[in-house]
Amino acid sequence: MVEIEGKQIIVTGGAGFIGSNLVERLAKANKVVVIDNLHTGSAVNLAKAIESGNVTVIEDNAKSIGDHNLKADIVFHLGFPSSTPMYRENPHLVDEVVAGMISVLEYAKKNSSKLVWSSSSSIYNGIKPPHREDAIPLVTDYYTEARIACERLAELYSKFYSVNSVALRFFAVYGRHEEFKKTYANLVTQFLWAMKNGEQPVVYGDGTQRRDFTSVDDLVEALIRSTGLDSFEIINVGTQKNYTINELIEKLNAALKTNIKPKYVPIPFKGYVMETLADTSKCERLLKFHANITLDEGIRRLIGDE
Ligand SMILES: NC(=O)c1ccc[n+]([C@@H]2O[C@H](COP(=O)([O-])OP(=O)(O)OC[C@H]3O[C@@H](n4cnc5c(N)ncnc54)[C@H](O)[C@@H]3O)[C@@H](O)[C@H]2O)c1
Repeated sequence: MVEIEGKQIIVTGGAGFIGSNLVERLAKANKVVVIDNLHTGSAVNLAKAIESGNVTVIEDNAKSIGDHNLKADIVFHLGFPSSTPMYRENPHLVDEVVAGMISVLEYAKKNSSKLVWSSSSSIYNGIKPPHREDAIPLVTDYYTEARIACERLAELYSKFYSVNSVALRFFAVYGRHEEFKKTYANLVTQFLWAMKNGEQPVVYGDGTQRRDFTSVDDLVEALIRSTGLDSFEIINVGTQKNYTINELIEKLNAALKTNIKPKYVPIPFKGYVMETLADTSKCERLLKFHANITLDEGIRRLIGDE
């Protein structure tokens, strides 16, 4: 594992699922300021990190990053509305995402901060896998459009001002601290919660859709390693192995020693992602890292944590 030490760090969205796992690791040896509007995040996720005495939480939007007189060596920008259906309900979340991204890029420019931020594998929606970073995205939904705009803005800041941020395209991340995401939590975690209560997991379609599931512990390692890069980059973080939803349920049944059958329902909206599979060669080349926590191991960790 690579560690960062003695730095001033801002994490937008740091009270959320992935953000709080990252902050927990950073707070061991750095001063961390979390900026989070607590939309799907909670200070509860940060309870352990706050015990270190190294974490301050500011309840605010990412777009106000420049208003708090903060000086950061590194910014992790994860503070975006985090799920596709949210944008369908309120398309103006696209405005919020772009405003937040520009403020964070301006902040990084002014303060010469390193910047690493969350893009998404949803950019590959409808494209034949394995998914490589140079694929040309299709038009599929608001969430994806917003993230493509952010990637292009980040490239623009690299060209205009040499602000060389790293965008990681996360693939289906699961792990501890997903409780406050509720129905937006990853399927691994949602199905685990349901099946532990003896309930049937609800599956869209026939369960043959495939996901490249990534443990949050692997993702945090990739985020930290990305701070070592000096060029503008877009990098996949996935395992390069995918499973059907039916296989996921078999694995959960095996881990829980249950035999619960899924409940299949029609896919309720257009643009549902049928397959994700990361090509991880760029991640291996630039970050010297491969996400190698298997789905079985990730499920074991999740059950062990509960
Ligand atoms: N979990 C995944 O599988 C996955 C996959 C691809 C991309 N991502 C991206 O990773 C990031 C973190 O997602 P997560 O899974 O931890 O979800 P999350 O909802 O737990 O985290 C997002 C956090 O950002 C906060 N937030 C939302 N809008 C904000 C704003 N405008 N300003 C400040 N804070 C704001 C939320 O309150 C929350 O704490 C998001 O950008 C998400 O889109 C996640």
